[in-house]
Amino acid sequence: MDQGLSHNSLLFTPIPAWQQKDKLGEMVSFDWVKDENRLLQEEEIFFRSFIEAYKDLSNTELDISDNDRNRFFGSFFDDLRQRFETKKMQLLSAKKENKTIGFVGFEVCEKVPFVYIRYLVVDPSCWKLGIGKQLVLSGIKAYPGVQKLLVVTRKINHISTKFYLKLGFKQSQHGHGGVDPEKYVGFEFDITQKT
Ligand SMILES: CC(C)(COP(=O)(O)OP(=O)(O)OC[C@H]1O[C@@H](n2cnc3c(N)ncnc32)[C@H](O)[C@@H]1OP(=O)(O)O)[C@@H](O)C(=O)NCCC(=O)NCCS
Repeated sequence: MDQGLSHNSLLFTPIPAWQQKDKLGEMVSFDWVKDENRLLQEEEIFFRSFIEAYKDLSNTELDISDNDRNRFFGSFFDDLRQRFETKKMQLLSAKKENKTIGFVGFEVCEKVPFVYIRYLVVDPSCWKLGIGKQLVLSGIKAYPGVQKLLVVTRKINHISTKFYLKLGFKQSQHGHGGVDPEKYVGFEFDITQKT
């Protein structure tokens, strides 16, 4: 896998695939997504998890002006695909019995030794088993020297805001560039304070 993807001193250093049991005692395999042309399972999980996460939110709350949720989620997945195919972002997936059950995208910041978390999803049937946590915190090992993990999420996505706070992320101003601070909230995990 290409290791020369970073824009600053951070270098993506893929940790070898590994296995770990979830809270049910079932084996989960973690590995980097390598096939740029096939993100079929990832697309399926992406739709499933966001449909579940946003099921109690109206189209107005989500700013879906044409009432077409498939188009709405599809446009985010197109962005994910583009970031992955142009190698801006690395994708780490979690699998059970060779079937994808979650993934996270990592993207190195251009000027500072920080890594953005993008598009974290876990299949709703596997929520609260520790898989999201494992995916996110793997970013620390995969980018030696990283000082902060950053993420931006919708304020109304209460599942994700609770999740990041539970992991020890603190609210942050990073990442507000380009998004409406009324609707989005940034979080950061300061690795220098954790070790
Ligand atoms: C956010 C998401 C990835 C969490 O994945 P997960 O595998 O269920 O998370 P984990 O099991 O690793 O949870 C880690 C911690 O967060 C807590 N947590 C997870 N979901 C929670 C919720 N809905 N409410 C409160 N706490 C929650 C867990 O209890 C756990 O705490 P613990 O370590 O003390 O046991 C998953 O809910 C999801 O896919 N959501 C939809 C997509 C999304 O919103 N992505 C984030 C966009 S930035």
